[in-house]
Amino acid sequence: MEKRVLVTGGAGFLGSHLCARLVKEGYEVLGVDNFYTGRRRNVASLMTNPAFELMRHDVTFPLYVEVDEIYNLACPASPIHYQFDPVQTTKTSVHGAINMLGLAKRVKAKILQASTSEIYGDPSVHPQPESYWGNVNPIGTRSCYDEGKRCAETLFFDYHRQHGLKIKVARIFNTYGPNMHPHDGRVVSNFIVQALSGNPITIYGDGSQTRSFCYVDDLIEAFTRLMATDDAITGPINLGNPNEFSMLELAEEVRRITSSKSNIVFKPLPSDDPAQRQPDIRLAKQLLNWTPTVSLRDGLERTVDYFRRRLAD
Ligand SMILES: NC(=O)c1ccc[n+]([C@@H]2O[C@H](COP(=O)([O-])OP(=O)(O)OC[C@H]3O[C@@H](n4cnc5c(N)ncnc54)[C@H](O)[C@@H]3O)[C@@H](O)[C@H]2O)c1
Repeated sequence: MEKRVLVTGGAGFLGSHLCARLVKEGYEVLGVDNFYTGRRRNVASLMTNPAFELMRHDVTFPLYVEVDEIYNLACPASPIHYQFDPVQTTKTSVHGAINMLGLAKRVKAKILQASTSEIYGDPSVHPQPESYWGNVNPIGTRSCYDEGKRCAETLFFDYHRQHGLKIKVARIFNTYGPNMHPHDGRVVSNFIVQALSGNPITIYGDGSQTRSFCYVDDLIEAFTRLMATDDAITGPINLGNPNEFSMLELAEEVRRITSSKSNIVFKPLPSDDPAQRQPDIRLAKQLLNWTPTVSLRDGLERTVDYFRRRLAD
């Protein structure tokens, strides 16, 4: 019998790619989503596939299904979305984790948590290894996300220690690609949508600050490798692309790929923006034999293609 896999947040950006990949690999996939930021259109191509099922459900409520593996991705991921209803964001992370861990315990499923580099807050160590405990403000406007995700990690490790659950915790760094929400305020989607619409490309600060971006296919490959590891491997494990680019370089690259005539305009940096964040992926290389392979240029070209089609609709 095929393995049955539950993907929470299955209609979201990462979740939709993960569902597609798992269906392709022959799994029976149940996507669960409350459609807060996710869209049915993200999984439209899977809807006619008998191996795929999509269920409207909010993970802050218990779920009773029979599955062998769970990928827990449900949670709005961009500041615009997670700050819109911060109490719900914390509930989704914390109650969602409790409900999914409870399900995993009942049905003896292996469970992977989509955690985040935000665990590290405004880090004083660069790049961040998994052993760094982070520097997080507990009462700021990003805290609903950062602290919610930190508490979810705590719950994963306590269920592992207390109940012997098979857990995998992935700390994801900036990832981009098709199916991103066009108005999520993230830099890659912002630049592409601005360039394709002929609007000015907005850079916050002087553009010299750097970020590293992982293309979605690379991340999904790491997810499936992590899920397949030995039970002794729990993480947390950093997943991301360590190649750094300045915001100015990114804007220029987007302008080139889109052949856009948009000007680049500079605005003041928001106060809670981390100065720099870069993954240390030595552990992922060693344990998963994984390293990102898609270049920024290739990844951006595929993402621009997607947004071009999306904006034309
Ligand atoms: N994309 C990144 O760069 C990144 C980086 C770090 C961590 N992550 C984590 O990966 C996961 C997926 O992120 P994404 O970028 O695909 O974001 P996304 O917003 O596209 O996906 C999240 C999905 O969860 C759903 N959801 C939200 N609250 C829910 C609830 N209470 N019940 C059921 N479904 C709910 C949304 O509707 C959406 O489909 C998130 O947990 C996020 O924190 C993503």
